[in-house]
Amino acid sequence: MPERRPRLEGKVAIVTGAGSSGPGVGNGRATAMLFAREGAKVLLVDSVLDRANETLALIHEEGGEASALAGNMINADDCRRMVETAVARYGRLDILDNNVGISRRGTVVEVSEADWDFVMAVNVKSIVLASKFAIPQMIKSGGGSIINISSIAGLRAHSSTPYTASKAAVVGLTFSMAADHGRDNIRVNCIAPGLVYTPMVAPRMDATLREQRQQAAPLGTEGTAWDIAWAAVFLASDEARWVSGVVLPVDAGLAMTTPATYTTLAQQQYQRPG
Ligand SMILES: NC(=O)c1ccc[n+]([C@@H]2O[C@H](COP(=O)([O-])OP(=O)(O)OC[C@H]3O[C@@H](n4cnc5c(N)ncnc54)[C@H](O)[C@@H]3O)[C@@H](O)[C@H]2O)c1
Repeated sequence: MPERRPRLEGKVAIVTGAGSSGPGVGNGRATAMLFAREGAKVLLVDSVLDRANETLALIHEEGGEASALAGNMINADDCRRMVETAVARYGRLDILDNNVGISRRGTVVEVSEADWDFVMAVNVKSIVLASKFAIPQMIKSGGGSIINISSIAGLRAHSSTPYTASKAAVVGLTFSMAADHGRDNIRVNCIAPGLVYTPMVAPRMDATLREQRQQAAPLGTEGTAWDIAWAAVFLASDEARWVSGVVLPVDAGLAMTTPATYTTLAQQQYQRPG
């Protein structure tokens, strides 16, 4: 068997939200770590520099190449500086993982105007601004791969209206960007994570809810940030050279189920011997 080359060898990547909001490994941290393991040089951007530095330490422990940068992705100047920094440090730009995201709860009746604007800015405008500056650099590099992080909450009603609306907008943005920049050899895809257990959701979770989330999907196992990160590695790699404009649920099959599926799965679980 020939030895496998690292899948992102020679590539330069930016991961936004590359820290984790609590102890453990979130989607951005896992993605940055796998990008580095697969040979990419990675710029780790986070509004909280300490969080990006924690990811940096983990990558350095593994012998990977990366550096950290403070930046708020709802600020155009920070997004411009992020792209300039990646090019200044590493000479080119091939991959942008638009990972930052936050949630605020509430119906349209409950949500404050400030919360609505903030969620839309962090989850949607951040992608527009980061991509606005990244795409011209990718064109100079001969093309690239942009990965936008949505959620299955963007494909289905969810417990948070601003979050669902913003993540649905990420899907539309992905389609539009993929169409606009295909001839620039830039692929734009979207990952829709399911109910993964990450530092973002852990504080809201007791053991019962954690188990219910796990059992809700056909596979019946818990997803982690690493599941999202492996999907990002594929979409970033040349192995996905003919994949663009895709919304990839990484959700143990949850998004394709109906409410009846959950009942059936729960019964099967109950009736299973042992
Ligand atoms: N955890 C889940 O169950 C789940 C499910 C579906 C989708 N997602 C999506 O995955 C993405 C990342 O989730 P995570 O688990 O890694 O979250 P996380 O909260 O652990 O990490 C996000 C990081 O982004 C940073 N950040 C937040 N706003 C920023 C901004 N404006 N500019 C720069 N950095 C900013 C935070 O400081 C934090 O370090 C989000 O888009 C989220 O909506 C998560």
